Amino acid sequence: MAPTVERKNIDLAPLKAANVPIFFIVGGPGSGKGTQCDKIVAKYGLTHLSSGDLLRDEVKSGSPRGAQLTAIMESGALVPLEVVLDLVKEAMIKAIEKGSKGFLIDGYPREVAQGQQFESEIQEAKLVLFFDVAEETLVKRLLHRAQTSGRADDNIDTIKKRLHTFVTSTAPVVDYYDSKGKLVRINAEGSVDDIFGVVVANLDKVTSKI
Ligand code: AP5
Ligand code: MG
Repeated sequence: MAPTVERKNIDLAPLKAANVPIFFIVGGPGSGKGTQCDKIVAKYGLTHLSSGDLLRDEVKSGSPRGAQLTAIMESGALVPLEVVLDLVKEAMIKAIEKGSKGFLIDGYPREVAQGQQFESEIQEAKLVLFFDVAEETLVKRLLHRAQTSGRADDNIDTIKKRLHTFVTSTAPVVDYYDSKGKLVRINAEGSVDDIFGVVVANLDKVTSKI
């Protein structure tokens, strides 16, 4: 039986009232989501929320909610939808209180249901940026990062499971937003700066209205 997940009552009214633009950032493990988000933040001043970082912070906090997460993340599987969505909502509300003018939600949605639930409870995403990278490159990048990252999931066994989860659960997210005309597919095999150039070209089309 799935463990009971602690839920919180979160007042979404300030977030909905702010109605700031929201961008989903998706891609396989090691596709450069975090790297590109750092650059987007520096140029556009949006708020970057990585679902993986929020989950790792929750684990570090020693909360009962965090205690349930370690084993799931170390197995490369997906954390229950409600847990991730609650963490994202809480972080968004805090950022809105500080005057955020828009969000990059990195690593979310990882399954179609996550996107649907987010958009029905909060707001629709403006665009979904998808960093498209071959598996071989992903493995190479993550094994290189493993030398310094200290991340419990940066080892070859977990990397393989993360890739499997991406193919089975997250690839349908890409098709889903493509069919809605919201997907921006970016070949992310090149250099960080070349990829960022493509990101900027796409964001400039929509951020003039921010
Ligand atoms: P998360 O932390 O999101 O991990 P991930 O998706 O596996 O992605 P990474 O953070 O490892 O990579 P990245 O795409 O950010 O790439 P980066 O810029 O670091 O999630 C971890 C776990 O949490 C999941 O497995 C799951 O269990 C859980 N989880 C998270 N979100 C969830 C959700 N929504 N629902 C349920 N569970 C969830 O780059 C990687 C490396 O490559 C770096 O060393 C970087 O320097 C290098 N690099 C980047 N770009 C380039 C380039 N162009 N050329 C060469 N090297 C590059
Ligand atoms: Mg990341």
